[in-house]
Amino acid sequence: MRVEIRPSQGEDVRARVDESLPAGEIVRDGSELRVGVDSSIGSDGLRTAAALAARSLRRQGGTVAWSATTEDEVRAIVEGTAYGAYDTGLYKRGYVSRPELVLALDAPADLKQLAERQATVARHIDGARDLANRPPNDLTPVALAEHAKSFAGDTLAVESHGRDWIVSQNMGAFAAVASSSAQDPQLIVMRYDPPNAGDVTLGLVGKAITFDSGGISLKPPLRMQDMKGDMCGGAAVIEATAAIAELGLPVRVLTVVASTENLQGGDAYKPGDILRASNGKTIEIVNTDAEGRLVLADALHYARENGATHIIDFATLTGAMNIALGDLYAGWFCNDDGFAAEIDAASQTSGDLSWRFPLHPRYRRLVDSDFADMKNASELRMAGAVLAAEFLREFTGDGPWAHVDIAGPAFIQRKRPDYALDQGGTGYGVRLIVELAQRLSA
Ligand code: BES
Ligand code: ZN
Ligand code: ZN
Repeated sequence: MRVEIRPSQGEDVRARVDESLPAGEIVRDGSELRVGVDSSIGSDGLRTAAALAARSLRRQGGTVAWSATTEDEVRAIVEGTAYGAYDTGLYKRGYVSRPELVLALDAPADLKQLAERQATVARHIDGARDLANRPPNDLTPVALAEHAKSFAGDTLAVESHGRDWIVSQNMGAFAAVASSSAQDPQLIVMRYDPPNAGDVTLGLVGKAITFDSGGISLKPPLRMQDMKGDMCGGAAVIEATAAIAELGLPVRVLTVVASTENLQGGDAYKPGDILRASNGKTIEIVNTDAEGRLVLADALHYARENGATHIIDFATLTGAMNIALGDLYAGWFCNDDGFAAEIDAASQTSGDLSWRFPLHPRYRRLVDSDFADMKNASELRMAGAVLAAEFLREFTGDGPWAHVDIAGPAFIQRKRPDYALDQGGTGYGVRLIVELAQRLSA
């Protein structure tokens, strides 16, 4: 999708909301397209209408024209059109020659900048969706690192480090997960350093398991293919960092992504193993499928040690959070109420829905181990998502930190009855992170 900010003209298909139509219904009348919306769900009604209009025109391409008068409408129409125009058929014949859909958005002068900004954000949401949908034999940790490097520029430095470096840094938790895989693991580091930044360095940390089989604690085979989406946290922070740099937001960003496969084999780590993470703490392995918290342990410590003042991590971390909130909301945890207020506001403005969950020292017993400083899972079927957050907390050092568990909304098994019209990657988090960076800007 491409966005032009201008009034509609002759050839355009003009789209608008029609309150008299049932939600989701589309009526085409010559060059006019009317869409029914559910106005009880706020701007997501219009986002859905824009997505449906774009989806109905996607095959033919051309231009769909909308007009917007408020900030929320601009966001909803730009994002909705991008969601609707998106094509999951990356590997299908004809993908590269598919027609382009252009959005002509008629907006008042004071909203033009926002419209352009959201067009950039939408492009990076598409980017995160592509990364999630690419198959694990193509999107390896090294391929993900190459993708991140494609965004390098004057204010954005990108580097990545492989297995030997990870071992040399004593990242024993990350290295253990990676030991099962023939693919070289990568710690991907992006540093955005704009000239006009203030005191904040926003640390963006992402889990990027390019395929999670569960390891020795093997997952059941049903829908195991969805575990190619276990890199959505990394994809969100990489694409959001690229968007922040492209928009030139005046806030320093340090992005750290831990990427590997989690497989089984003679070199694989095992239940019973005790690992030592880069902050010196030891971890008893109870379940090799709880690998995300292990790679994040070393990535979080790295981000704090390298100057992040505020850290937020994104991870498809627990099935428990998926069960708690399903495919719509992410659940998050935060050790600082001031930072939490910014995250909550960013979530609400952006449209990436989320809900805060509790941290409490009394939950620490869930990760207590008889043999090491902590264990990576528990046999109690209790508070699985909170346990994971308490585990991560051990590696975050001093300062504000938040953990966003996106296991539900990041990679969906079936399309939702809203703007998320495709199974697979949704790009969850990109909008939220850009909004948060804007709020923390100097
Ligand atoms: N990647 C999974 C979590 C997940 C599940 C993401 C479903 C998306 C959809 C994670 O690595 C995992 O397997 N977690 C285990 C942890 C358990 C063994 C303590 C889980 O939640 O079952
Ligand atoms: Zn797992
Ligand atoms: Zn996983």
